[in-house]
Amino acid sequence: MEHLLAPSILAADFANLQRDIEMINSSNADWFHLDVMDGVFVPNISFGMPVIEAIGRHAKKPLDVHLMIVDPDRYIGTFHQLGASVLTVHFEACTHLHRTLQAIRDLGMKAGVALNPHTPVTVLEDIMPSMDLVCLMSVNPGFGGQKFIERTYEKVRQLRSMANQSNPGLHIEIDGGVGTGNWKALVESGADVLVAGSSTFNASNPLEAIDRMKGY
Ligand code: DX5
Ligand code: ZN
Repeated sequence: MEHLLAPSILAADFANLQRDIEMINSSNADWFHLDVMDGVFVPNISFGMPVIEAIGRHAKKPLDVHLMIVDPDRYIGTFHQLGASVLTVHFEACTHLHRTLQAIRDLGMKAGVALNPHTPVTVLEDIMPSMDLVCLMSVNPGFGGQKFIERTYEKVRQLRSMANQSNPGLHIEIDGGVGTGNWKALVESGADVLVAGSSTFNASNPLEAIDRMKGY
């Protein structure tokens, strides 16, 4: 199966957001990855509803929304109205994860669960059939441009083998420090969605960087 590439808008030029969105529209990338940070779950604040609404007016590819916020249940309906196709919550931020995932799916969105680098994939065993995507954080969430944590490869392999048993269609997304040097090894380990922020927008030729990470 061909892997998907999801450029993270966090690394775009916010003063030229429409230009950067059109660039992704015209590229071979697959999804827009949108990082929502609340300054509580993570030590940073990114952007919220008005900005996502504006992005949604121009984006021609699915919105993959990654919520790094506490108590995400409060906003599931809002992100649906804003056009999210994939809505990912953090395992570490949800007390009733099964209910949260159900609420996301009930609105017709794909339900994702993100794991911080310290959280083992085995915590997902009982919830496997309720997820459409697992986002393995390969950096500590909160900032773009950080160094990839090598231990992630083993987590991808372990999760892919768990998914083969109980949820063969599960998307495994890798988020943080992904670039032209490691995308291939991640796909070979079992990942099929790659988030790429700095490696897309800081490249001298973003369209070419996207093609390289797509394997073209
Ligand atoms: C980090 C975010 C990432 C970030 C990745 O908290 O979840 O999506 O934008 O940025 P890069 O690709 O620059 O590591
Ligand atoms: Zn993210």
